[in-house]
Amino acid sequence: MFTTKCSVLLILLANHILSSGQQEDKFFRVDYPKYIPETDSFYKVHTVHQTWEKAKETCEAEGAVLYYPDDEEEALAVWNYINATQTFYWIYIGVSSPYAPHVFITVEGHPISSVYDNWGVGEPNDQSGVERCVVIRRDGTLNDDKCDVKNPFLCKKRASTINWNILCDMPDQKYEYYDGLGRCYKFHTTPKTWLEAVQVCNAEQSYLAIIDSQLEADHFVNLTRIAKKDDVEGSYLRGAVHLGFTRTNSQWRSIKGRPVKALGYCKWGHNQPDGGDNETCGSMFYNGKLNDINCEQKCFFICEREIPILGSAIEMRYGETNKG
Ligand SMILES: *[C@@H]1O[C@H](CO)[C@@H](O)[C@H](O)[C@H]1NC(C)=O
Ligand SMILES: *[C@@H]1O[C@H](CO)[C@@H](O)[C@H](O)[C@H]1NC(C)=O
Ligand SMILES: *[C@@H]1O[C@H](CO)[C@@H](O)[C@H](O)[C@H]1NC(C)=O
Repeated sequence: MFTTKCSVLLILLANHILSSGQQEDKFFRVDYPKYIPETDSFYKVHTVHQTWEKAKETCEAEGAVLYYPDDEEEALAVWNYINATQTFYWIYIGVSSPYAPHVFITVEGHPISSVYDNWGVGEPNDQSGVERCVVIRRDGTLNDDKCDVKNPFLCKKRASTINWNILCDMPDQKYEYYDGLGRCYKFHTTPKTWLEAVQVCNAEQSYLAIIDSQLEADHFVNLTRIAKKDDVEGSYLRGAVHLGFTRTNSQWRSIKGRPVKALGYCKWGHNQPDGGDNETCGSMFYNGKLNDINCEQKCFFICEREIPILGSAIEMRYGETNKG
């Protein structure tokens, strides 16, 4: 059964890749619409202004880097694009001086002199000794700015660094396909609050995991057991992982809106839920039983991804056996 399923899956995948041209035409994510051939890279404009650090993290969460120009050609090509589509006058770029004033390096560790370093007149001036993050202005010149100022920014993904995760139909290699359910999962070992966990999963084009069946609960117990989590230090709650359900108006619902009672799995831990209004977010004990938790508690978490096209094709053929 395993082999039959696998070979059908591979045929489906092959067809999918050929028909959508994913490999040949180059593709990163639907939210990275801009491909510039000269730089062989994809770009996404973030119009919600963020601090420099948050901008960097946002790009990393999307599997990309905070954009900075490698050279003049890229600076020009990108400003052409921004000029044509946006109104802002400057954006953060992935350059800062984290270790010493005036020693500017890119988020990938290159000295600025080895990339694009067309500073504006009189810049960098490190005004008041606190300007350690860099913006690029519409005229193509760089300026140092305070890192906690919020600015728009771009994320960039070099096509050459895209490693397609074929089974999960996405670029993130850390998602693992689980044959029994035809879905992909990633166990995150950086503890986050519940809302942060939701955001991280969204940034990865997935969602904070929801348990729909005993099989899925068992799989999550396995994922948790084998996750490299025991050496993770810091202040966070051990023993539970965040899941995608919350209490609203005294009813527990999944983040997709269905009551937890109506999901295919609703086994609470002993005496749970017990936290009243202090604990309105959902989690799972390491043993698979559900638990209510304070939303501000940092925990590990699992992201879940349905595979867009293939998922339904496989479900059609194997829906019966999968449920068995
Ligand atoms: C973008 O527009 C500004 C003026 O708004 C101009 O100075 C700059 O040269 C333009 N950049 C490109 C690449 O066209
Ligand atoms: C969990 O792991 C055990 C031991 O490796 C294995 O026997 C079991 O089938 C796994 N369960 C699921 C749901 O994958
Ligand atoms: C909620 O937390 C407060 C302060 O920590 C505590 O006094 C209260 O008893 C808690 N309520 C419940 C229902 O656990």
